[in-house]
Amino acid sequence: MSIVFDARDRLWLLRTPATSYVLRLDEDDAPRHVHWGASLTLDQARQLAEVRAALADTESDPGGEELAVEGGLRYGVPSLIVQYGDATHGVEWRFLSQRIDEGRLEIVFTDRRYPLEITLHYRVREDSDAIERHVTLRHTGQGPSIEILRLDSAAWTLPPRPGYRLSHVVGEWGKEFQLQRGELARGETTLTSRTGITGHATNPWLMIDAGEATEEHGEVWSAALAWSGSWRITAFRDRRGWAGWSGGFGHEGLTWRLAPGDVLETPAFTGLYSAGGFGATSRGWHDHVRKHVLPAPDRVRPVVYNAWEATEFDYDEALQLDLAARAARVGVETFVLDDAWFGARTHDAAGLGDWWPNPGRFPKGLGPLIGEVRRLGMDFGIWVEPEAVNPDSDLYRRHPDWVLHTPGRRRTESRNQLVLNLARTDVAEWTHAWLDALVGENEISFLKWDMNRPFSEAGWPGRDDPDRLWIDHVRNVYAIIDRLRADHPGLFIEGCAGGGGRVDLGMLARVDQMWTSDNTDAAERVAIQHGYGQIYPACTMGAWVTDSPNSVTARTHWIRYRFHVSMAGALGVGGDLRTWSEDDLAWAAAFVEQYKRARPVIHGGTQYRLGTEATQYVSTDGREVVVLMYQPSALGRTRAPVRLTGLDPAGRYRDQATGDVHHGAVLLAHGIGAGLMPFDGTSEFVHLTRVD
Ligand code: GLA
Repeated sequence: MSIVFDARDRLWLLRTPATSYVLRLDEDDAPRHVHWGASLTLDQARQLAEVRAALADTESDPGGEELAVEGGLRYGVPSLIVQYGDATHGVEWRFLSQRIDEGRLEIVFTDRRYPLEITLHYRVREDSDAIERHVTLRHTGQGPSIEILRLDSAAWTLPPRPGYRLSHVVGEWGKEFQLQRGELARGETTLTSRTGITGHATNPWLMIDAGEATEEHGEVWSAALAWSGSWRITAFRDRRGWAGWSGGFGHEGLTWRLAPGDVLETPAFTGLYSAGGFGATSRGWHDHVRKHVLPAPDRVRPVVYNAWEATEFDYDEALQLDLAARAARVGVETFVLDDAWFGARTHDAAGLGDWWPNPGRFPKGLGPLIGEVRRLGMDFGIWVEPEAVNPDSDLYRRHPDWVLHTPGRRRTESRNQLVLNLARTDVAEWTHAWLDALVGENEISFLKWDMNRPFSEAGWPGRDDPDRLWIDHVRNVYAIIDRLRADHPGLFIEGCAGGGGRVDLGMLARVDQMWTSDNTDAAERVAIQHGYGQIYPACTMGAWVTDSPNSVTARTHWIRYRFHVSMAGALGVGGDLRTWSEDDLAWAAAFVEQYKRARPVIHGGTQYRLGTEATQYVSTDGREVVVLMYQPSALGRTRAPVRLTGLDPAGRYRDQATGDVHHGAVLLAHGIGAGLMPFDGTSEFVHLTRVD
């Protein structure tokens, strides 16, 4: 890892373990991209910069700005749209200074005429090929405010290639993270959320390859945004057919005001180049997220029990106690009480916002249930939805002005609820205070933080720059979670938004895991998990085993298959255990135990996708290997072998279940798991330990 500034050529070379990133200043001081890809020496970077500069000279708009501004003959996707007090638009770059500190680079510019300072930030690390970028703007003058109509975190430029393919995920509630891969169209392709949260429809990352990458080969350029509110990434192929993208927080139509002295800082937009195909790209992301994003990557992800799917709103203390006893029997480590424990919340139309135990359900408070859960040897967790309120609640009756609203407009409800304006300091303080008391005064070690609706009528009466709420709401959510973590160091937090509606690097920097989807049908989960795992590591992917037939899809699946699918993530159990047979409970206990032995490998190891039907995990010391294999249909009972990867051909590996010893060379060349499918399932779990 190193960063070099070549003052003569006004060029920077950033190096990660396997890649290089190069940018230069052109004669107008504009920061222009030179290279993002294979490692280069300074000499090579200089030559490439000359080639790019010569090419740029032939163009009226050479593109490739590190932050694309407006002005002159630029007509591409702008990363920064700015309007000064006199209505002038655009930026004329003037380079001021640069600073290199460890793995960080800051390049400071100003507009030639207006008091707008723009700093580009880069960060590289010695153990990751990820390059983290963001931008800060500062109003350095005394005069009128500056209106910011768009501020992306970074623009990324790809080298010319004959074609490009875009990979990203699309979805909706219950069908999140569906991987989509297709030609990047000429023109502009926008991935966005306008909902105030990350959203279900797509997720803030993308991968672009030259159309020829496979799972194990080929160049892939990717980037992921660390932001949990509205966002926008626009990928483009310009008139020459060349590609790149610009992205950042906020959606179109929002304006942020910069008063004299104000600073606006974007979230990080992290890029990763790999020459090893989609598999190496995903492994690079998993590694980066575990090393540099998650707050406590090594903390054991507990096996949770959560009765939401089993009971929804219909339960009392006795039922939770009954379920807790059964959960303890199958080896659950944390018992989570989901929605409907508070206020008048016995259905989804009342009580949200009234965060005290429902007196009918918990006449003596939460103490008896928590005490019993702990006596059974489990930790206790609880569900909250701090950003929302039911109009039918004491909170709303007291503070109708605390929600996002616009005078003269209706207050549109979704799931019978409105959104609290957490951008307001008083609302944020109140929110922190009750959460702090809840986890401080009870033995609560797990918090499920949910958020079940998008913003609407997002006004902030009394403010002259109300659009600030789109940023400040998210920042205050971050600040509350950060403060809770700091004050309650043992607290484990699960992020959730109607399933997987708020999964991103910003949330993952402060929660331990995510609730991936409200759809727990194992067969559908395989696709959801495949998309989730493109960027996010298995240790963050909450995955419950629920009932069969499934409550969302009504499909039936063997218990074995349901467990095997959930064991690929952070395993939980979410079925109505009262209805499980003694046999099923015994199976569940056995699977949970098997999972606990494999958990360090699945969560801490290296993940290889072996086609879409099998995933392999190898521990960091290479001595343990876990393979999960799924057969999509039970039709046809002969299964082809699954070839393993990442093993030592000279090593021998013992199957923990059967005791069989396999040569590494055979597993690599021929594979494992061939033969007849078992009658009771469409999946297989194998845990191998190296014997020599
Ligand atoms: C959301 C979550 C569920 C559950 C319910 C409770 O839908 O995704 O897991 O917590 O809310 O209302």
